[in-house]
Order: sequence, then structure tokens, then C-alpha cells
Amino acid sequence: MGSISTPTLAVLVPGAMGAAIAARLSVSGAGTILTNLDGRSESTIHRAQTSNMQHGSYEDIVQRASYIFSIVPPQEALNLAETIVSAYKSSGSQRPLVFIDCNAVNPESMKGMQALFDGIGITLLDGVIIGTPPSDSFNPGIYVSADPKDIAALDDFTRMASGLGLNVIPLKGEGAGIGDASAVKMAHSGIVKGTIGLFTTMILAANAASPSTAEGLAHALNLSQPTLADLLIRFVPMSIPKAYRFVSEMDEVSSFTGGDGAEIFDRLSKIFGRVANDDRGDIADTLLKFVEQAKEVRGRSDAV
Ligand SMILES: *[C@@H]1O[C@H](CO)[C@@H](O)[C@H](O)[C@H]1NC(C)=O
Repeated sequence: MGSISTPTLAVLVPGAMGAAIAARLSVSGAGTILTNLDGRSESTIHRAQTSNMQHGSYEDIVQRASYIFSIVPPQEALNLAETIVSAYKSSGSQRPLVFIDCNAVNPESMKGMQALFDGIGITLLDGVIIGTPPSDSFNPGIYVSADPKDIAALDDFTRMASGLGLNVIPLKGEGAGIGDASAVKMAHSGIVKGTIGLFTTMILAANAASPSTAEGLAHALNLSQPTLADLLIRFVPMSIPKAYRFVSEMDEVSSFTGGDGAEIFDRLSKIFGRVANDDRGDIADTLLKFVEQAKEVRGRSDAV
């Protein structure tokens, strides 16, 4: 631990993802991992300690850390970047450091964020995390891109973070720059959550037609598209408690997509909004009942 060759890192903030990333870095041999615990709850402080993170003020962080990972809800990403840039400027320091924004902000917002870093010693990398927090059985993908002038920093980061147990995939080559990693997240989320949105839409439409339409749909999916039926069985129940988050994600995907494609995601955002505001639980009941039907049909060998 803390050997001379390992750079000081910072992971902001110690939420479920940030703390799990810090824990992975720590067990893989990282030295000091700073975070900021001002105003945090007992449980967050405890989670940070369990992940071997140490408290530091922002002033402290910009003077000691060589790499700062920003892992926050998307609406807080710009704020955190501003906080770091202003702490850096008021420290009067020129020491080089790298700020990796790992958040699901759309590519346009990333380009806006880039302006903050103009002409100072902090290099901005555009990163996104795809998948659930690291665990013993899973390591999420961290896709990273950089301004063409910062390719050396991207290579250094990739080497450092891969050496400390992260699954880093750099995006390089023709036309790559800030915004491209964010675009991967948008396109991936459009496919994965968009598919869940289509499942949801058609389950509700089939049920609105009649109960036997819903039964027929479960049978037909099993007959012609068993892979889709299995995905539906797995993803639709998981999506219900997260629907409120998918509303804003679909809005981001819509602005990324633009044109006719944008309308698809505007509508899916509304569908998830209906699921999220389902106070009486009717929509959730309909969806879960269909999932039970689909499961039953998958395991059954007679006709409807
Ligand atoms: C569902 O599909 C499986 C094969 O994937 C098949 O064995 C089973 O008979 C089907 N169920 C019904 C009710 O047709």
C-alpha cells in the first residue's frame, strides 16, 4: 500500500459507484485515495472508510491528487468540475493533474465543460461507466476519450487505471475527442433502455386491447423470439423502481439522437414517466402480471 510509484487519486463522490471504484483501486494496490466528506451522512462516511478513502478538502485534493475521478449524478457533473477548477485556480498551483468526468452527461454538455479547463494545468478526460459497480464477479467498462492534444494523458491514464484493476477502454483514432465517450453512453442507453421502453409500451398496449391479447403476446414471443422473451422477463421488473431515472436519461438520449430519432426517445421518456408516477400501482401490476405470464409460458410446453 502507498508505494512511492502509485499516484495519489481522488474519487468524488463516495456514492455506491464511486466507493466501489475506490475499493477496486485500493485492493489493486492504489495508494492514497482522497474524497470529500463535508456534509455527508454517517452511512456515506462509513462507506468511504470501508473503501479506504480519506477525507480531504477541495484545496487539499487539487494540491495532492494526480487523478480526480468525478462520479456523480449527471445534473451535478458541471458543478463538481467548476468546484475543482476554482479550487485549482485559487491554489495558485501549476502542477499538472487529470480530471476524468465519468458521468452520463450528453456530448454537447461535455464540450461545454471542456471550456472550463482551457488554459489551466488540469487535463479533462471524457469518461463513462457502463454496467453496475465493480464486484467480485463484475468489472464495469470505463470508456474514455480526450481532446486530440491530450492523447498522451489518455494513454497515461489508461495504463495507470488498468494497472489498478479498472476495465478502461480508450477511444482513439480519426475524429475522436471530448464527447465521444459520452456518446457511447447515450447510444448504449438508447438501445438498452429504449428496448425496455418498447417492452413496456407493447405490454401495456396488449393489455389495453384485452387480457387474451396479452396472453397471446406472451405465447408468440416465446414461440418466435425466446431471447427477447427472456430479456423482457429479466429487465421489465428491474426497470419499474428505476423508471423515474429513465425519464431524464431518455431526455438526454433524445437530445443526443436529434431528428426523427429524438421523437422516439421523447415518447419513451413519457412512457417511463407514467410508470414512475403510477401512484396506485396499476401499471406496475399490469407489467409484473405479464412478466409472470411470460415466465410461465417459457417453462410450459402446451399450447395457449
Ligand atoms: C416456449 O418455448 C419453449 C422453447 O423455447 C418450448 O419448449 C415451449 O413449448 C414453449 N411454450 C409454449 C407454451 O409453447
